[in-house]
Amino acid sequence: MDEAKKTMLSGIQPSGDLHLGNYLGAIKNWADRAENYDCYYFMADLHTITVRQNPADLRRRTLEQLAQYIACGLDPERNTLFIQSHVHEHAELGWVLNCYTMFGELSRMTQFKDKSAAHKDNINGGLFTYPSLMAADILLYQPDYVPVGEDQKQHVELCRNIVQRFNGIYGDVFKMPEPFIPKTGARIMCLTEPETKMSKSIPEGCVFLMEKPEDIQRKFKRAITDSDTENCVHFDPVNKPGVSNLMNIYSAVTGKSIESIEAEFAGLGYGAFKPKVGEAVVECLRPIREEAGRILADKAYLEAVYKSGAERASYVAQKTLRKVYKKVGFVAR
Ligand code: TYM
Repeated sequence: MDEAKKTMLSGIQPSGDLHLGNYLGAIKNWADRAENYDCYYFMADLHTITVRQNPADLRRRTLEQLAQYIACGLDPERNTLFIQSHVHEHAELGWVLNCYTMFGELSRMTQFKDKSAAHKDNINGGLFTYPSLMAADILLYQPDYVPVGEDQKQHVELCRNIVQRFNGIYGDVFKMPEPFIPKTGARIMCLTEPETKMSKSIPEGCVFLMEKPEDIQRKFKRAITDSDTENCVHFDPVNKPGVSNLMNIYSAVTGKSIESIEAEFAGLGYGAFKPKVGEAVVECLRPIREEAGRILADKAYLEAVYKSGAERASYVAQKTLRKVYKKVGFVAR
């Protein structure tokens, strides 16, 4: 590990296929960082079982996700890519941090409230203490930055509270991490219900990275806009949430500013705008889809990547865990 470099870390749950929100809110900002940062990115499989999973699907999606990380530009030689459950220190530090996280703090987490409302028959302890495990994921690697979408900011803030509490008792054990949230793409909304964030739970409003171009185009053509006929392509998230979301997506995939997008489509209607956004997304995702397909076919390569990733991650994670165990008073092995 290069001591002078700062560290970045993030993860995604392989609970569904990766979608445009995951890409624009998170992964896109992970690529191209390896030059300047030590980067750790993982498949957060321990987190997924807070909601029931089909075991065969979970295994398949975890490997697909790894192939897609690589296809999105994360070179495994320069980024540590690993599967969370392969590094047992995550579960161990997660337990310790549970004891430094307050019931009240966990009760305030939006994701817990949303998921317990969605899965009333399975409001388990793991769902509740999920943020302590996420804090452990982060703190094991002492990162400077945690690149995530807007919806994960609350969890990173809670992690910061834990750092303050723990360091307050034991001295400087953990580095204080900062959430790193992109300017465009931090909150991609559902195409059919633009008041809710894009997620796999509404598949018609969600664009998946591996989806066929014609299906992506169809989803954009059917995206909800509004009945405005005067000033169609105008950015106003409160009064025009659907259109503003499409503009955000277009901006994030093309790099164009919101003002230049308004100028580009001035006087044009949604019939011209929506297919243009669809086309830009298709072209942005095409190389990723093709590359991921190639990588996924090479199972031996994927195995080599996740094995060496787990080894590199374990080395760092062990060091932090040893320090923590010593601080809290466990007898050394
Ligand atoms: P997850 O798996 O729900 O989402 C993965 C990443 O994608 C971002 N994201 C979005 N960004 C913009 N618009 C959207 N519609 C959208 N939907 C998802 C999320 O903000 C996230 O960055 N708890 C985490 C996984 C995790 C983690 C960690 C992240 C576990 N341990 C440690 C960072 C560090 C989660 O459930 O993200």
